[in-house]
Amino acid sequence: MKAYLTRRYWLSASHRLHSEKLTEEQNRATYGKCNNPYGHGHNYAVEVTVGGQIDPASGMVCDLGELDCVVTREVLERFDHQNLNCLPEFREAVPTSENLCKAIYQILQPRFRAAHLEKVRLEETSMNSFEYSGGEEIDR
Ligand code: NI
Repeated sequence: MKAYLTRRYWLSASHRLHSEKLTEEQNRATYGKCNNPYGHGHNYAVEVTVGGQIDPASGMVCDLGELDCVVTREVLERFDHQNLNCLPEFREAVPTSENLCKAIYQILQPRFRAAHLEKVRLEETSMNSFEYSGGEEIDR
């Protein structure tokens, strides 16, 4: 039997969607106004889901205080109020929400032992949300 816990956090950051692999024209066509050179910001909701056995002593899957500590230290302090394009995580990758979700997952994944990181879900706007749950990278 496995139980899941999802906790929600907030982080604000700016980005510009621009790929070095595309021409200026392709960038404008692909990203539209998100390609504007001055960037723009989002208030992201970050949902972290951990899963595991319910500890018989505590009755919990994961200690909430510890989860908050890890997410604050590893994710919020790294990304909150930053320009994502300037961070090492996005030196190669375009700071789309897909890639931000993946970066957060990869940072958090090794931090869990008893409970496992199941999924990171990111809401960029009330219209868009993204999820990443690990797995093999497939080269195309
Ligand atoms: Ni954006």
